[in-house]
Amino acid sequence: MRTLKVDLGERSYPIFIGADLLTDASRFLPYIAGRQVAIVTNETVAPLYLERLSQTLRERTMTAIVLPDGEAFKNWETLQLIFDGLLQARHDRRTTVIALGGGVIGDMAGFAAACYQRGVDFIQVPTTLLSQVDSSVGGKTGINHPLGKNMVGAFYQPKAVVIDTTTLATLPPRELAAGLAEVIKYGLICDEPFLAWLEQKMDRLLALDAEALTEAIERSCQAKARVVGADERESGLRAILNLGHTFGHAIETHMGYGVWLHGEAVAAGTVMALEMSTRLGWISPAERDRGIRLLQRAGLPVVPPGGMGPEHFLEHMAVDKKVLDGQLRLVLLNRPGEAVITADYPRDVLDATLRADYRALAAQLGE
Ligand code: NAD
Ligand code: GLY
Repeated sequence: MRTLKVDLGERSYPIFIGADLLTDASRFLPYIAGRQVAIVTNETVAPLYLERLSQTLRERTMTAIVLPDGEAFKNWETLQLIFDGLLQARHDRRTTVIALGGGVIGDMAGFAAACYQRGVDFIQVPTTLLSQVDSSVGGKTGINHPLGKNMVGAFYQPKAVVIDTTTLATLPPRELAAGLAEVIKYGLICDEPFLAWLEQKMDRLLALDAEALTEAIERSCQAKARVVGADERESGLRAILNLGHTFGHAIETHMGYGVWLHGEAVAAGTVMALEMSTRLGWISPAERDRGIRLLQRAGLPVVPPGGMGPEHFLEHMAVDKKVLDGQLRLVLLNRPGEAVITADYPRDVLDATLRADYRALAAQLGE
């Protein structure tokens, strides 16, 4: 087992990464202050892993709150079901909420924990690759609004993150690829050697090789913990974690939540960020193509949805959380392994990026 730390003073917490951790009570009990726990999960994950975790926590009084599955349910109505479950079972302020599932469950359960009786403890138990490498770490919690992705939420850190890598065995291949989009992101924004490592190991990752997956998760969590430790509430640096997300969130909102997976939208959005960095002359076409090829090898979409024109992107990007004083800041690359957040770009370069022929670019690279 590997242990990392998110260093945030008195709100610091460990990330445990290893096989079969769902059955290891010592990873949970020291982080549960009271007698009650509420496991928040969904209809897909519950039959797979709820019993295993419940057994591990059998010394505590446990409530299971099983939500409908999907990004389309990351909303007020579903959030209310968590409060209903907590209140019906009389959970008090010393309760601990445990998020068992992917990023949708982690974001919603974390937000519920931040709000319930003005804040109760919570533990993240991420079961998708995407949530293990990204969403469970760093304390961003929240829900979607019909007009914008993740627009309602709170920064609220967990007490611990417990990553059981064996849960990945049941993950559908499309979800594995979606997680790889965020893994590749870390290489592009802050770790060129990791990018080179991913180029070597992509086939092993896709084959669910345990050693390669554990290393990818560890290196991703290290990068995320470093960035979050330096800028918890995104006053600057943390925004680099959003490479491809401004374009990607526009895709998710426009298509309807859940039609494109978050990681898929991030992949196509990353291609757009690479293209814009190239048009600005900050990276070379060969460096852009290196990123696109890696996303393609992971089985991710590298072309934005056919029906989306520049006007659709601009409409959704106008409500991005990186808009400050009316100016849209974008995460772009200075070079592979170094991202910048900037509003200092000519508007016509953004327009050209939104109009670019990504289908031709992908075809040229052998999609
Ligand atoms: P998800 O939570 O929808 O999970 C994907 C699918 O896999 C779901 O159907 C889920 O039920 C299923 N699943 C989960 N674990 C499984 C397992 N072990 N075996 C089989 N099926 C399993 O999606 P996701 O990709 O995990 O997360 C995406 C969400 O995370 C988005 O809402 C995104 O906005 C959010 N996110 C948040 C942050 C953050 O910092 N808070 C960062 C990145 C993404
Ligand atoms: N996924 C972006 C962040 O955590 O800041």
